[in-house]
Amino acid sequence: LILRKLGLVPEHVETRALYSPWLLPFQGRLMMWVDVFPKSLGPPGPPFNITPRKAKKFFLRCIIWNTSDVILDDVSISGERMSDIYVKGWLDGHEHNKQKTDVHYRSLGGEGNFNFRFLFPFHYLPAEQLCVIDKKVSGRYIL
Ligand SMILES: *[C@@H]1O[C@H](CO)[C@@H](O)[C@H](O)[C@H]1NC(C)=O
Repeated sequence: LILRKLGLVPEHVETRALYSPWLLPFQGRLMMWVDVFPKSLGPPGPPFNITPRKAKKFFLRCIIWNTSDVILDDVSISGERMSDIYVKGWLDGHEHNKQKTDVHYRSLGGEGNFNFRFLFPFHYLPAEQLCVIDKKVSGRYIL
């Protein structure tokens, strides 16, 4: 009655912990309620399929062509300001897959030329518009 009055949930919700050997002390919670139907109304409708959707594998291809106006924070033997330039990239939540271009050595004008390709695999749930982030558990990455 209190839950209904507060508009939180229309039913009395039971909560049970879900256990997994990977995630201690528990992986999550199953929240559920029991509907009791009078026999006189006949059978209730069919159960809902609540199997979680599976994420699809996608690849983000990223091409690094050129850089410009890179800060020159080094000095060459002849006294000119210069920089060794490279580009490093990764996706949020995928820090284990950082990728790096080769190095454009001794740039004097802050320009670097690469034509380098990054390839980032990731999992995505189109219906939910969500990226699935890999989690590191006991040295392995799982979804
Ligand atoms: C990258 O730089 C080179 C050399 O300056 C130039 O020929 C090329 O057009 C540039 N590429 C892009 C995509 O801007």
